[in-house]
Amino acid sequence: MSVSLNETLISAETVKQHASRESCWIIVHGKVYDVTNFLDEHPGGSKIILKYAGRDATEAYEPIHPPDAITTNLPTSKHLGAIDPATIVAVVKEVSEEEKRRQALLATRPPLDEIVNLHDFEAVARVVLPEKAWAYYSSASDDEITIRENRLAFQRVWFRPRVLRNVAHVDWSTTILGQKSSLPVYISATALGKLGHPDGELNLTRAAGKHGVIQMIATLASCSFDEIIDAGVPGQPFFVQLYVNRDREITKRYVQHAEKRGVKGLFITVDAPQLGRREKDMRLKLIGDTSGAKVQEGQKDVPKDQGVARAISAFIDPSLCWDDIPWFRSITKMPIILKGISTAEDALLAYESGVQGIVLSNHGGRQLDTARSALEILVEVTEALKKRGTTRPFDVFVDGGVRRASDVLKALALGAKAVGVGRAFLYAFCAYGQPGVEKAIQIFRDELEMNMRLLGVRTLSELRPEMVDARALNVHTGAVPEDNLFRTTYQPLALAKFRDSRL
Ligand SMILES: Cc1cc2nc3c(=O)[nH]c(=O)nc-3n(C[C@H](O)[C@H](O)[C@H](O)COP(=O)(O)O)c2cc1C
Repeated sequence: MSVSLNETLISAETVKQHASRESCWIIVHGKVYDVTNFLDEHPGGSKIILKYAGRDATEAYEPIHPPDAITTNLPTSKHLGAIDPATIVAVVKEVSEEEKRRQALLATRPPLDEIVNLHDFEAVARVVLPEKAWAYYSSASDDEITIRENRLAFQRVWFRPRVLRNVAHVDWSTTILGQKSSLPVYISATALGKLGHPDGELNLTRAAGKHGVIQMIATLASCSFDEIIDAGVPGQPFFVQLYVNRDREITKRYVQHAEKRGVKGLFITVDAPQLGRREKDMRLKLIGDTSGAKVQEGQKDVPKDQGVARAISAFIDPSLCWDDIPWFRSITKMPIILKGISTAEDALLAYESGVQGIVLSNHGGRQLDTARSALEILVEVTEALKKRGTTRPFDVFVDGGVRRASDVLKALALGAKAVGVGRAFLYAFCAYGQPGVEKAIQIFRDELEMNMRLLGVRTLSELRPEMVDARALNVHTGAVPEDNLFRTTYQPLALAKFRDSRL
């Protein structure tokens, strides 16, 4: 806790006297704030703030808010000063049995050099993550058909490798929206990184900077936007993901600030006018709440069973439509990419709207369940764009279910410019921090080198649609060899539990 010399010091006793709806003060990171007038504006509802009225709210605040959320949302007149350290009474918190067990598991997790593929990270994360973090990260919508299809789709595409092509030297570097990238892979936006690791998204930033990979910063990152940018190495390229706020002034400020800080691409999420019902996440919210994210508690318009995701996304504007695109083009010169396109029809509309590209994505299976995989959509989108004839650069990206470099090569052969990866990087840092992300990047490199040699391509530009057999992609029945690693890490949905399990 830092206290500057001229800062007003406020005693814990004084703060304690402001513990009501009429006068509500809270302490966050050692500073005292008057949040009385903010209670009804808080996206997570007023009740959760009132729970911490008159006391320290840092622990509940930390995993689900960027550090500067409170300072930017409250007028400076409500920043009252610093808590007087001499008046703080240390509270010894008991570590729960569950947490002790988790720490023990973390200490005995497999050493990083025994991690050989991206599934391994998921298997470790599933064991060492707090239950609520695992539920939020791994969940997908409804029956979770799409999240599973995302994986299976890659296995319905088969390679047609070429031989005798002198593959002594292979190069998998590329450019993405004009930015150099050491991989044809970028880190896709995943929210609330601190639920899974104290350094949150900074694990991604540091590893990406070191290895020339591009990170897309999530609107709902746990670390603040500036904190992430500041953690980058000089010249490190970033993209930013945007959830469009009902208040367009806030959106405009965010976008223009990102551009000023040198961000190289604006990815507007268009597949989330309402967040999907993610039952693993919802179910845990129903079973008491003692740790982790508590944002949904008591929120007025979000019932308690809605999980973390829905509670933090109330600000997203469901009225967003094609007519808004010219406005976005008027407020920024960054390339604009629409993230979450699922049909050739919308891909063509996106092209006509003047944006620079699209991400074919179903949000990692977290939005409309039984939406098709990005890989399947890619085939119809590439055909439609070819038929129309494009006269300006227009990039098509895909994401969802990528766990192997062979997945990446299939997508590129079918016309994708690069591929987004969400969970695999997320699980890598949850299990091992920054070194985990670096290892994940290394695994992609090793697999790309081997697969490119075996496929007979020296550079990514040599990939051709003829190098894959995608005829089965639209066939949603029929046997394929089982993906054992994915099947063992995939956790099936559960049914409602009786309160007394002995009955
Ligand atoms: C935990 C989690 C949080 C996510 N948060 C966001 C988000 O805030 N905004 C967004 O556009 N997409 C979000 N996504 C979707 C990812 O950007 C990406 O589309 C998806 O993760 C790709 O699938 P994969 O996880 O199988 O790689 C999230 C995905 C996960 C798993």
